Amino acid sequence: MRRVLAELAGKPQRRRAQGQLRAQRSGCRSESGSPGLRRLPFALAPAEVMFDGIKILTAPGVVMTPVPTTEALVQWAAEWIGSRSVRVADVGTGSGAVAVALALRAPATGIWATDDSEPAVALARANVARHGLEVRVQVLLGDLLDPVPGELDLVVANLPYHAEARARGPGEGACSDQPAHAIYAPGDGLGYYRDLLEACRTRLNGGGALAIQLYGSVLAAGRGQLDQLAHEIEIRAQAAATVSATLVPRRAAA
Ligand SMILES: C[S@@+](CC[C@H](N)C(=O)[O-])C[C@H]1O[C@@H](n2cnc3c(N)ncnc32)[C@H](O)[C@@H]1O
Repeated sequence: MRRVLAELAGKPQRRRAQGQLRAQRSGCRSESGSPGLRRLPFALAPAEVMFDGIKILTAPGVVMTPVPTTEALVQWAAEWIGSRSVRVADVGTGSGAVAVALALRAPATGIWATDDSEPAVALARANVARHGLEVRVQVLLGDLLDPVPGELDLVVANLPYHAEARARGPGEGACSDQPAHAIYAPGDGLGYYRDLLEACRTRLNGGGALAIQLYGSVLAAGRGQLDQLAHEIEIRAQAAATVSATLVPRRAAA
């Protein structure tokens, strides 16, 4: 992350093609028998996974099922926080796994978890309630940091970054069990991270930090290093695009 800075060519024009990559939404169903579960806007098959040593309820195919790689983001954040009392945002919370795990590891934190998917918000709230964290973890529906009030000390995010075109590409299937809206993003896929980084310029306090998950790695920067992080994101994306182009077989000549 200590590379030469690259200026971003203006604020990216991102507006989601609404509904294009949305997880399928179905009718309401009330879940009983699991403490804290509220009325969920989808038929919840009783499923759970272990994430960072805790049980997380999942909704396969509707909300991103958390994967072990993301535990590194929790680990990084917990170490950055230490024993401090800080304000944290978990952007694109999905099942709420990162927010819940981090709240348990850092008991003095207040966490605002956001997602623009209604089923994800419902599931995250159920997981927060299941772990008795309603006082410290608020789950809010909305775009990136928009629903979160006030200044923040730390923003963590595992947002979609795979280019939308890849969802239709040959051989795509590695993420077929995850909802498309959780994996793919319009254009080159990096618009959400670019916008989040821009928002952090005004939403993070002076000593704050942003940590994101990208291609299996945690990339992090303090408030004063956001230009370097922006550059690093572009470099990693270019490298991934080159590998991807190499792996896609050429179309046979007509
Ligand atoms: C890769 S999943 C990660 C879920 C969870 N953080 C995890 O690690 O398991 C990305 C999540 O971001 C959400 N998302 C996508 N675009 C968003 C946006 N503009 N604002 C808020 N959340 C968004 C998706 O609905 C999805 O739940």
